Amino acid sequence: MEYTHPKIAEIAGILKSRLNELLNKADILKSVELRALFDEIKTLPPDERGSFGKEVNALRQELEELSWQTRDDTPALSPIDVTAPFDMNVPADKRPQLLTADVGSTHPLMREIDVVADIFYHMGFNVEQSRQLDDEWHMFTSLNFPEGHPARDDYDTFMTIEKDANGHPFVAPAHTSTMQNRMLQKYKSNLGQGRPIAVLVPDRVFRNEDLDARHEHTFYQHEGIYVDKGIHAGHLMATLKTFLQAYYQKDLEIKTQPFYFPFTEPSFEFAMSCPFCQKKGCNICSYSGWIELLGCGMIHPNVLKMADIDPNEYTGFAWGGGIDRLVMMKYDIEDVRHFHSGKLDFLRQF
Ligand code: DAH
Repeated sequence: MEYTHPKIAEIAGILKSRLNELLNKADILKSVELRALFDEIKTLPPDERGSFGKEVNALRQELEELSWQTRDDTPALSPIDVTAPFDMNVPADKRPQLLTADVGSTHPLMREIDVVADIFYHMGFNVEQSRQLDDEWHMFTSLNFPEGHPARDDYDTFMTIEKDANGHPFVAPAHTSTMQNRMLQKYKSNLGQGRPIAVLVPDRVFRNEDLDARHEHTFYQHEGIYVDKGIHAGHLMATLKTFLQAYYQKDLEIKTQPFYFPFTEPSFEFAMSCPFCQKKGCNICSYSGWIELLGCGMIHPNVLKMADIDPNEYTGFAWGGGIDRLVMMKYDIEDVRHFHSGKLDFLRQF
């Protein structure tokens, strides 16, 4: 499209080249430049308004069409009739198709979970999965949350309407700590053989959140559990610092402040120095130089007792933190909702 008004032609050039960089192509229609052109129409003498206004509208139309064309260059597949019977005799290339595997890629979260797991694996941790549905005992009771304790409400937990045999609803796990008791039980025979319990559980959790750029109802945590004789908070700090330095490939400082979790005593909130500005202050660390990352502490004696581990003989540490945020910071992803959006132009960047 040729624009005769030099100003419109110039802005058309700017906006078209910006379109390539935008993740959400439709955002081009909200650009200040386009809005300024529309605003300018009413400031013009009446006899110039018509032709100027027509071209501004034409530009808007062109940008809108371009934003659709460039959104996804994969040819659209014809819709599948999911009620149609599947005919085994139809040749493979004539059957209804989803996107073929060769145009797919590993989801960035899954790829980064492998990176996190690999670092801990090399530090001697076993890696285990959590569950998508659990029970109140693992979500709360096994973690030393007394029945009816207000700390249970902090977790904005989703529960099912159906009840288990004891009349309790099932729980969509709101943290990976639900796996602590199972992991302590599963690996406690290590202790008798002079080996530690060292487990990482990176998996999916669910919370009834108000959704925004930083909050999703479904996200990922990594839970660490380590138990042996003579374990103290120094081991916890060194483990987390080693992990974070490996993950961000930077030398980092760490700091903690006291916090409360029913399942650790003492409990800490753990922060690292910002890997992106070396504590000078940037938009990732909100200009504070530090990034709060996770909760951690020394495993409460009651939690060890509930797994039949003697807290007079063994001590341990645990932590739990979000994976999505680690990944968002690493790749400068501004909105957590991209992960579950299914947007191909987001996913194809990884
Ligand atoms: N489960 C906690 C949460 O999601 C985080 C956490 C804190 C996990 C301390 C731990 C821990 O294992 O020791 O808020």
